[in-house]
Amino acid sequence: MGALVGLDVGTSAVKGLAIDADGSVLARAEVGYPLSTPRPGWAEQDPADWWSATEAVLARLDEDAGAPAAIGLSGQMHGLVALDDRDRVLRPAILWNDQRTGAECAEIEATVGLERLIELTGNRALPGFTAPKLLWLRRHEPDLYGQIARIALPKDYVRLRLCGTHAIDVADASGTLLLDVAARRWSDEVLDALAIDAAMLPPVLECPDISGETAAGVPVAAGAGDQAAGALGVGVDRPGPLSVVLGTSGVVFAALEHYASDPQARLHAFCHAVPDAWHVMGVMLSAAGSLRWLRDAVAAGERYDALTEEAARWPAGTDGLLFLPYLAGERTPYPDPDARGAFIGLELRHDRGALVRAVLEGVAYGLRDSLDLICELGGTPAFARVSGGGAASRLWLQIVASVLELPLERVAVDEGAAFGAAILGGVAAQIWPDVGTAVAATVRPGERIEPVPEWVEVYRERRARYQALYPALRDLPG
Ligand code: XUL
Repeated sequence: MGALVGLDVGTSAVKGLAIDADGSVLARAEVGYPLSTPRPGWAEQDPADWWSATEAVLARLDEDAGAPAAIGLSGQMHGLVALDDRDRVLRPAILWNDQRTGAECAEIEATVGLERLIELTGNRALPGFTAPKLLWLRRHEPDLYGQIARIALPKDYVRLRLCGTHAIDVADASGTLLLDVAARRWSDEVLDALAIDAAMLPPVLECPDISGETAAGVPVAAGAGDQAAGALGVGVDRPGPLSVVLGTSGVVFAALEHYASDPQARLHAFCHAVPDAWHVMGVMLSAAGSLRWLRDAVAAGERYDALTEEAARWPAGTDGLLFLPYLAGERTPYPDPDARGAFIGLELRHDRGALVRAVLEGVAYGLRDSLDLICELGGTPAFARVSGGGAASRLWLQIVASVLELPLERVAVDEGAAFGAAILGGVAAQIWPDVGTAVAATVRPGERIEPVPEWVEVYRERRARYQALYPALRDLPG
């Protein structure tokens, strides 16, 4: 059998992975590209960069692992690629972390009605989502808007170049705010209310469906947005363990057997990459991103493990120092693009290690906010699978386990969304009959990290102060 290839069209790079049928990694490749921020709060990329990176990644995987038997796609969610009637890109793609659409979000919630919007889509209008970006283009670039024949999300633009087909999967489509998430199809009511032409939208497929073939005849699975694919990669296909991601953003993710949404939509309610499953998740915009910010600001070039060693010298609670991780606005639990970060409780004694420990703890408190919302929807998970760059730090995992009051389990192969995409490719090529069988055949648990009993009490108490910070800072004059 040829390799199963997963591609993750990320924010900084295309990551490609080739695995075999027992989940062993045969080859990996990564090719990066720039992110452009032409104005404060804007984030754009050139879709041509995604495609040239994809071509380079596929060529390297071919060299190292041979011709693939199947390909699965994953990528950054929510981004908007505008295409004309000959599939030419009309402007740079507007990405998931772009914050320009505050006014359009308010307009959508007013037009559809917040309650009805949540009933129809499971979600509220957040600046990162795709629909507000379309409305922004209609208002600010009307000539260009008039030329749009089709839209695509990032990985779906790569699919278009790879197999010439327009398609999207239900998981990624959930993040557009145009999908009836419960029914797993585009919402006519939302499209009508927002006067968006349904002809612009690609057909919606289930994630393991075949969406097309490459020129060489390799089947390409519909795939999934990076969070749903990443959850498959850590074995969260069905209710059971949660998935906790300590990446640039931080995510607490629960798979659901039946559709459910938070009545206030503080959690995102999306279709999962398993055909009859859904998921809810809380998304923090700056998790490991907060640690990267601190390193770059006060310890440029320093190794992360040197910084966490300094942090380990401080006791749990960092002697009163608290960090609020809203460096790029926030989504969960406060959908507020204007939320900002803070250090509170600084003393002369606090050194660099204290700042680091406070950041690790502040991110953990933020994850706990999402966990509490998930528990409100029902059920208390027994443990969580953890992944992402931040999961390399044992100290951080001990802090997160103690704040969440849940054991955390690493996976033997932590390759993120590309791994889940490769699994979906394999199901599309009928290597496995379904996603559950594929996950069971490929994902193996790794080390387990337990909460530290003495820290749990400290963190319970400190969290009350943490939770009081956002409302207090939001209401400061000026
Ligand atoms: C999920 C989300 C991020 C992006 C970036 O809602 O916004 O995971 O997909 O990777």
